[in-house]
Amino acid sequence: MRQIHICEVGPRDGLQNAHHLMPTEAKKAWIASMAAAGIEEIEVGSFVPPKLIPAMADTAEIVAFALTIPNIKVVALAPNVKGFERAVASGAHKVTFPVSASRAHSLANVRMTPEQMVEEVRRCVELRSQSRGKNGPEIEAGVSTAFGCTMQGEVPEDDVVRLAVMLAGTGADCVALADTVGYANPAQIRRLFRKVRNEIGDKLEAAHLHNTRGLGLANALAAYEEGVRHFDSSMGGLGGCPFAPGASGNVVTEDLVFMFESMGVPTGVNFDKLLEARKLLVAGVPEEPVYGHTPLAGLPKGFRAAA
Ligand code: COA
Ligand code: ZN
Repeated sequence: MRQIHICEVGPRDGLQNAHHLMPTEAKKAWIASMAAAGIEEIEVGSFVPPKLIPAMADTAEIVAFALTIPNIKVVALAPNVKGFERAVASGAHKVTFPVSASRAHSLANVRMTPEQMVEEVRRCVELRSQSRGKNGPEIEAGVSTAFGCTMQGEVPEDDVVRLAVMLAGTGADCVALADTVGYANPAQIRRLFRKVRNEIGDKLEAAHLHNTRGLGLANALAAYEEGVRHFDSSMGGLGGCPFAPGASGNVVTEDLVFMFESMGVPTGVNFDKLLEARKLLVAGVPEEPVYGHTPLAGLPKGFRAAA
């Protein structure tokens, strides 16, 4: 019945860039409340060196907790083989890799070139097939800075297409396109999703959009019209990459849910329960600014969720 699949990335993309640490117990309560609102997939953290991103130091514990919640897909980000091994040991259902199309961002973010990252993903796919056969985690490769980069500037679309083809060729289960720094516009979204889909078909799955210039929802709608049904978003619009100057929050989960539900396109998410979860986000990081229009304005009078 749900036609839109939302992956909530706030606990990872949001908290990695927050100025304040959310206590582990508060993270658990927040994640549980988002699951109770009907969010079916949550990126709960990342397996990166804790010294690099202290907010992600408790990811193994958070994954273990999230695995006790029924009916959610538990996702973790990994930047390399070591992170993948930690993710496999944690039991995460899905692991996502950041693979920048911008060479400059790739080097700043993961200290590897895009080509080296492709090989890293390939090794993880091989490790999975050696150790656990098909029971290992799902593997997603996200093409970061696919629509432009604050360090490099323009990112040629041909580079993005080539990288997506290489990633699909590693045996990764799915590929996402990410507007890491919020440079994309709807025309560009339509063009690039179409180009990449022409090359890798249904392996192209999610849109990971940031709202830095206010075009997050417009871009999500453009991607929807291009056939995309999987969206990353962040409660309260938290988010950003600490290694991409100027990056700010993801498209706001609450507003994304409102847009699709009011269009009659079911997301499986209950808006009122989402607002309950938002209270726990605010309680967990009280000093952190949270965004979103619909949470502030409220639902329109007579609003009916999609059937
Ligand atoms: N988890 C925990 N520790 C890790 C690790 C991981 N995934 N990867 C490497 N390490 C450890 C190594 O064991 C080594 O430890 P030691 O000093 O005790 O021997 C140390 O970190 C350095 O390892 P190295 O392989 O040289 O890594 P690096 O310093 O070149 O950093 C990355 C490379 C990929 C680990 C790092 O750039 C990174 O984590 N980037 C991701 C950033 C991020 O999350 N961005 C936001 C998401 S888009
Ligand atoms: Zn992001």
